[in-house]
Amino acid sequence: MTGTGLLDRYGRRAVDLRVSLTDRCNLRCSYCMPPEGLPWLPKAEILTDEEIVRLVRIAVTLLGVTEVRFTGGEPLLRPGLSAIVTACAQLANRPKLSLTTNGIGLERLASGLKTAGLDRVNVSLDTLDAQRFHEITHRDRLPDVLRGLTAAVDAGLTPVKINTVLLRGVNDDEAPALLTFALKHGYELRFIEQMPLDAQHGWNRSEMITAEEILAALNTSFDLSPDPAERAGAPAETWLVNGGPAKVGVIGSVTRPFCGDCDRTRLTADGQIRNCLFATGETDLRGLLRSGAPDEAIADRWREAMWGKLPGHGIDNPEFLQPARPMSAIGG
Ligand code: 5AD
Ligand code: SF4
Repeated sequence: MTGTGLLDRYGRRAVDLRVSLTDRCNLRCSYCMPPEGLPWLPKAEILTDEEIVRLVRIAVTLLGVTEVRFTGGEPLLRPGLSAIVTACAQLANRPKLSLTTNGIGLERLASGLKTAGLDRVNVSLDTLDAQRFHEITHRDRLPDVLRGLTAAVDAGLTPVKINTVLLRGVNDDEAPALLTFALKHGYELRFIEQMPLDAQHGWNRSEMITAEEILAALNTSFDLSPDPAERAGAPAETWLVNGGPAKVGVIGSVTRPFCGDCDRTRLTADGQIRNCLFATGETDLRGLLRSGAPDEAIADRWREAMWGKLPGHGIDNPEFLQPARPMSAIGG
């Protein structure tokens, strides 16, 4: 495997790196963590800014990664974020750089991040109703998120995408209203099926709002047609809204899995490689880094980690095992 990119035995090549910068968050979305939060990773176990930049450099220069997405927890909580983005934007073979955020603090940080070299952002937003926002996230921060979205567009972090999770009996009637809002402001909306990644293990297949239900709900208010420009490998199936050019995406992670086209590799905040969101094992790079290993040895360990990637997540199999770590510790 030496000298190659991040291949696996099913012929997939990972070129899209998700880097979790922290497992902490200032929201408590019910599909992610319990209201009281989680025991956060100890500081000594979290990669330093320099360690993260080194691993991104190895990924980009030795392993063929072309796209880097910073996630969390909430990545805007990481003090060194701007320095990390700056360093990644200066790499040879500069990767595309984006960020998945809940939007809190984006108002203050958007323009600096653009200057640092960030290309675009995905903002999580599940409702436009303040009371429901509190019900879902256990915090009253909807206005912060809305101001963050505006700031992202003003800073040119475009296209700004919105990620929405619909929860039965909570916000599942809001799909058309969210799309109207997104169209009005020029945000690209994508609905994501709720996945079994919550720390509380409360996910329940029958409670999940499926891609089919989301499309049916949208079709009551909009005319959706398949998007001819849809990119292979992209998890979102996209539809043109009322003939286009506006689009809406639906990510049917559970009912329409896209594992066969998956091009992702994940680095957790504490320096573990995960070859899948749903992997039950991880490969430690932090130990190697801190023991003084050369770049090529780290690259080889990363290749081995990806070579063992399973063909699919098997959420629909009876033997499916939810990963031990929640989404906030893996990165979206
Ligand atoms: N299922 C689906 N999406 C989730 N997210 C977090 N947890 C889950 C889950 N269990 C979303 C967030 C964010 C992105 C990182 O993933 O809303 O948009
Ligand atoms: Fe925070 Fe994202 Fe988890 Fe919500 S889904 S609690 S915003 S990490």
